Amino acid sequence: MSETWVRICRIDEVDAERPIGRIVGDSGQDRDRVCVVLTPQGVPVAMLDRCPHRDIALSGGLIKDGTLVCPGHFWCFDVSTGARTDLPERGATVYPTRVVDGWVEAVLPPPKEPQSMREWLLAQARGEPRGEQ
Ligand code: FES
Repeated sequence: MSETWVRICRIDEVDAERPIGRIVGDSGQDRDRVCVVLTPQGVPVAMLDRCPHRDIALSGGLIKDGTLVCPGHFWCFDVSTGARTDLPERGATVYPTRVVDGWVEAVLPPPKEPQSMREWLLAQARGEPRGEQ
């Protein structure tokens, strides 16, 4: 399957100190939640608008000196890579990002196919991790 670039927001909407959050899709899954941050060099970076710690929107956080601070429990992420800067644990999910005709675009994962209750129960019985919603 070829990658698809999705328009997130206008580049002139992106703020150097606060992420901008958008819903880009109607799957109802986390992948619809995207936020855009600016690196200290002024490069926009799109990322999943969900902290890897808990279900808190990173778009509610603050950016300072290239670090995005989650409003939940203040984990810190490098805005360029999504890596945690305070501990070597799970980082934020960063997407390939570009600017075209004044629009920030990103390659997002495709929505997951709906899973029947039977399939879900069988996956649970096999001990597979819970699917992202
Ligand atoms: S929810 Fe982000 S640090 Fe806890």
